[in-house]
Amino acid sequence: MFGKSKTVDTSQDLKNQPVPEGHHLLEVDDLKMYFHTEDGVVRAVDGVSYTLDRGETLGVVGESGSGKSVTHMTMMGLIPMPPGKIEGGSVFYRGHDLLNMPEAQMQHVRGNDIAMIFQDPMTSLNPVYKIGKQVGEGLRLHRGYSKEQALKRAVELLDAVGIPEPEKRVNEYPHQFSGGMRQRVMIAMALACDPDILIADEPTTALDVTIQAQIIELMQEMQEKNGNAIVMITHDLGVVADIADKIMVMYAGRPVEFGTADEIFYESRHPYTWGLIRSIPEQATDEKKPLTPIHGNPPALSNLPKGCVFSPRCPYATDKCRAERPERFETGTGHYAACHYAGDADFIKKNAPDTSRSRKVSVAMLDQEETKGGEA
Ligand SMILES: Nc1ncnc2c1ncn2[C@@H]1O[C@H](COP(=O)(O)OP(=O)(O)OP(=O)(O)O)[C@@H](O)[C@H]1O
Ligand code: SF4
Ligand SMILES: [Mg+2]
Repeated sequence: MFGKSKTVDTSQDLKNQPVPEGHHLLEVDDLKMYFHTEDGVVRAVDGVSYTLDRGETLGVVGESGSGKSVTHMTMMGLIPMPPGKIEGGSVFYRGHDLLNMPEAQMQHVRGNDIAMIFQDPMTSLNPVYKIGKQVGEGLRLHRGYSKEQALKRAVELLDAVGIPEPEKRVNEYPHQFSGGMRQRVMIAMALACDPDILIADEPTTALDVTIQAQIIELMQEMQEKNGNAIVMITHDLGVVADIADKIMVMYAGRPVEFGTADEIFYESRHPYTWGLIRSIPEQATDEKKPLTPIHGNPPALSNLPKGCVFSPRCPYATDKCRAERPERFETGTGHYAACHYAGDADFIKKNAPDTSRSRKVSVAMLDQEETKGGEA
């Protein structure tokens, strides 16, 4: 009934191979990638480390330009080199070295084992191809599906991500879809081959709160079903409040704090994380405290300040901060913070925000929005 399909041996797929004993699904260790430009060296990724296991969600949070996208594009082999250059560190996926993988193998990993939902759907969707063809492309490439099989599966995928009349919509072009619908198409494309890891780069930024909640729910449902890991990139700590198991806070190309979501919300040790927590509006409302934005702007990555990179904006900066780069303080549970005073109990007690309720409030807000429903 269907046209010709190729037989593809998927037993060799990395996602079907065991995670070696003592390793994690994904291990990023001290990853450094700099752009060498005419204006100097841009330290876009400067010592990123984290681990991720199956079924886990990592939230990557930080202001615009902090290196969230570039870090993950580096891991996926999507940064042109030059101007980019790996300056150090490693990325292991199921024990395989992604940074030194031949491009042909990496092409198979992308989309099949690790899929990325890109920040801007319009730059990732090709305007001249029908949506059905684009959603089914990965299946043709990685699974040997025939055209008809891929189209049939594309219809199912569009249906699964909540696009009405999918049989009709597969024959339409990207410009015929609204922003929210295009974002759903991107998710359908990313899910097509059941990836082991889904990297979602600001998948909800351009969308209203109701659709944000629906898309997050969709990704969670998929995770419950498939047990895959998710990396959720966002500039908004509130967005990952109820869905992340772990959170990495990035500032100026570096992770300044990493820990479980509970450690980040209730036991954070870095003043930048405190600033992000104090910027979550519902916390301020709940505690009847004014919203306190982080003043100033992040530094140029080609001209970083001496000492702690956050020192020009940090309300607690000392001469030591302005002179010496802080080492990571580690608590022993995997939680780390790059601040000279992260191990100083008095400093933390005196200055950390009272976040005992902020997380619950954020969750309640999303729940409320979900029950409203609706789509633009
Ligand atoms: N080709 C390039 N050459 C030089 N610098 C670059 C290049 N691409 C990105 N950068 C710089 O790398 C830094 C990190 O960018 P990145 O896109 O990862 O930030 P981000 O945290 O994802 O921000 P946003 O929240 O706005 O998406 C930025 O300062 C950016 O200007
Ligand atoms: S090292 Fe100093 S400047 Fe940097 S975050 Fe800690 S207190 Fe602030
Ligand atoms: Mg980005």
